[in-house]
Amino acid sequence: MKILVVGSGGREHAIVQKIAQSPKVEKIYCAPGNAGISQLAECVPIGAMEFEKLADFAEKEKIDLTVIGPDDPLVGGVVDVIEARGLRVFGPRKNAAILEGSKAFSKDLMKKYNIPTAAYETFDSAQAALEYLETAPMPIVLKADGLALGKGVLICQNLEEAKAGVQELMEDKKFGSAGERIVVEEFMTGREVSVLSFVDGKTIRIMTSAQDHKRAGDGDTGLNTGGMGTFSPSPFYTEEVDEYCRKYIYQATVDAMAKEGREFKGIIFFGLMLTEKGPRVLEYNARFGDPETQVVLPRMKNDIVDVFEACIDGCLDQVELEFADNAAVCVVLASDGYPVHYEKGFPISGLDQFPGDDGCYVFHAGTKLAEDGKTFLTNGGRVLGVTALGDDLKTARANAYQATERVTFENKYMRHDIGKAIDEV
Ligand code: AMP
Ligand code: GLY
Repeated sequence: MKILVVGSGGREHAIVQKIAQSPKVEKIYCAPGNAGISQLAECVPIGAMEFEKLADFAEKEKIDLTVIGPDDPLVGGVVDVIEARGLRVFGPRKNAAILEGSKAFSKDLMKKYNIPTAAYETFDSAQAALEYLETAPMPIVLKADGLALGKGVLICQNLEEAKAGVQELMEDKKFGSAGERIVVEEFMTGREVSVLSFVDGKTIRIMTSAQDHKRAGDGDTGLNTGGMGTFSPSPFYTEEVDEYCRKYIYQATVDAMAKEGREFKGIIFFGLMLTEKGPRVLEYNARFGDPETQVVLPRMKNDIVDVFEACIDGCLDQVELEFADNAAVCVVLASDGYPVHYEKGFPISGLDQFPGDDGCYVFHAGTKLAEDGKTFLTNGGRVLGVTALGDDLKTARANAYQATERVTFENKYMRHDIGKAIDEV
């Protein structure tokens, strides 16, 4: 088979690595890919938002399966464009990707189908939002309706902050049209867990759990980032939690989408908060999580191509997912100053010390090849994700931190407490 993966981050590197293990696959392309991915796939210079060019390429190269990584193209309808050419593609159509593309849509869906989530109100006008906030309990959460690079969520401690938040989202339009409508949501407390799943429109198969670390600094301080590290499984995702989510959240979401005429095929990522009252949905994503994918896929035993195909063909009920009885930790190596100001273009050394057979992997997020075609250079805020497997979480964490020492570049920055929460178990 010939497979095209769309996207250019650590998530796509992990997806490409997993696809490369399938004996069915002869050739992998990645659009646009990155320097690390180019070691496993042929990178083609087409952007993830260039839908017609992607479809032209898939048609011309007779691609058997296209896999979409990021949210923007999914929400924009790339799957519909590629399908319209009679080609096979893994991911939700535009009318289903709205599950991630509009927080107002997803909240209304959860309310209508009694899927447990935080109480909320939706506002199209700043004035109405401000009036509501005057008497609302604090802290409170404001969310831009649309996609905002994961940054459109504001946790406001008091009325003053909430008013400033409305100004930022709705009047200053910090996230453009994403903030034309906002969701104002009850503040919840508890542990967060990420659960990824494969969905074929009817059947849902749950992958192993993971946990992300979104803040830039140790001890969950500093600004929100795209994710500074992950571990899998989450020890807080107990059997009891799993049972509850299977009963009230997972299948209920898939059925709700089908009832709405928005059959969902692809990945649903459940962002859950384990509150005192039970698990609640924080958010849905319509794609693999980044960097959750970098710890989940290395533990998956199935041939991922078979699972993608079962989702497309609607026969996921015949697939059982299998995960190794081990653990994985991913530590993101970033450029110092991320997510605000950071420098790029520094040579990276030590990447050759990941032979791939010792349970340690390096996934590229922001790298590029220098003109010599050999030297890897830093090219983004998040540069690399170093993942290590281990028999248990503590071993995986020790292995991952040890493996980060193999890599050096100027301004290398990482959190030192990825997976620290497991010490509390
Ligand atoms: P989201 O993009 O909706 O997952 O929100 C980003 C982050 O904001 C989440 O991972 C949580 O840490 C936090 N968050 C979102 N909604 C709530 C809420 N209702 N209560 C508390 N924290 C929240
Ligand atoms: N790690 C969170 C996300 O992918 O949105």
